Amino acid sequence: MSSIADGAVACEGATIVAAGTTAAVRAAVQSAGPGLDAAARVIDGRGHSLVPGFVDGHTHVVFAGDRRDELRRRLGGASYAEIAAAGGGILSTVRATRAASEAELAAHTRGRLAEMLASGTTTAEAKTGYGLDTASELRMLHVIATLGRSQPVELAATFMGAHEVPPEYRGRQADYVRLVIDDMIPAASPFAEWCDVFCDRGFFTPDESIAILEAGLSAGLKPRIHADELAASGGPAVAARVGARSADHLVQVTADGIADLKRAGTVATLLPIAAFYLKLGRFAPARDLIAAGVPVALATDVNPGGGFSPSLPFAMALGCFGSGLTFEEALAAVTINGAYSLDRHDRIGSLEPGKQFDAVMIEGPAINLLRANASPITAVFKRGIQVHARA
Ligand code: NIG
Ligand code: FE
Repeated sequence: MSSIADGAVACEGATIVAAGTTAAVRAAVQSAGPGLDAAARVIDGRGHSLVPGFVDGHTHVVFAGDRRDELRRRLGGASYAEIAAAGGGILSTVRATRAASEAELAAHTRGRLAEMLASGTTTAEAKTGYGLDTASELRMLHVIATLGRSQPVELAATFMGAHEVPPEYRGRQADYVRLVIDDMIPAASPFAEWCDVFCDRGFFTPDESIAILEAGLSAGLKPRIHADELAASGGPAVAARVGARSADHLVQVTADGIADLKRAGTVATLLPIAAFYLKLGRFAPARDLIAAGVPVALATDVNPGGGFSPSLPFAMALGCFGSGLTFEEALAAVTINGAYSLDRHDRIGSLEPGKQFDAVMIEGPAINLLRANASPITAVFKRGIQVHARA
């Protein structure tokens, strides 16, 4: 990741045609032929910084209902597991999401995507996993497809039927895993790109996760995984076994787990916003991951429980001051490494000729992004079009 003082970017339509110093870009545009310069719209970015559009590789942005009471309970000392056992957590969102109409679900989600866009996110992953029956999971995928076409944030759809065991399958987890494999994956695969599993203590075991992710692979869904959030529970080994592109959370990852990720070329997607609001008491060991040669991405984990902020700049601040990333590592983590985690690095994630012009303009130096809530983002561009301006 290099930074250029007095830089410029030229694009034609959605595509970057030149990037570098202003002098070099001017020369490139002029040599491209007469007329181009005259027709060009110039956006004056003096006093600002321009960085690639942010890529949020892990969100549960599609949901209905409200779990803000859980924040108060956590502040009072309750743990994630205690809140779930008392009827909160994922299953409370499943009840609300099943009860919501598709239009309601889309309207709530659209508002959250607008918040993410204002924070610089131009591409986001969006998971199912609050339906947990075939029809409700398909409804979530339909919402993702509809919103992918009708608002600026590009969406990557992930099927996550294995987010939790629904109440009607309590005590029959093996039967639910069969439902995911035999019924949900075939139904969902035309509408999703990825398959994810919550492989953790109290959720899905490594063997169940392998069976589900392999079934997904056979149906054309690329694997990613929730790993080692609550306990070191074998997720990195599963990631290596199935060739997962990304293993996410990793708050409790061990040295063996890090070695598994390195061997498999899996990206570590860290979600420090979740660790913060869930009061997990620690952040993922980013320095150990980077020292081992594992690429690190940052994502928000937007969700109604611990994913309480839509802001990748906030994830960057926590990644820096909680997990020990440098600012440049955090910026790479929300741009090119996020793009790689979603298999879109050929098209987005950096400002280079041939790539899509997805970009974030920041007042002053880019490190101003770490000023939580100070709104340094003045403009956001997606596919060459300005899609957000600071009010
Ligand atoms: O990534 N870990 C599993 N899923 C989410 C939490 C979802 C929820 O609490 O609703 C996560 O943290
Ligand atoms: Fe998650």
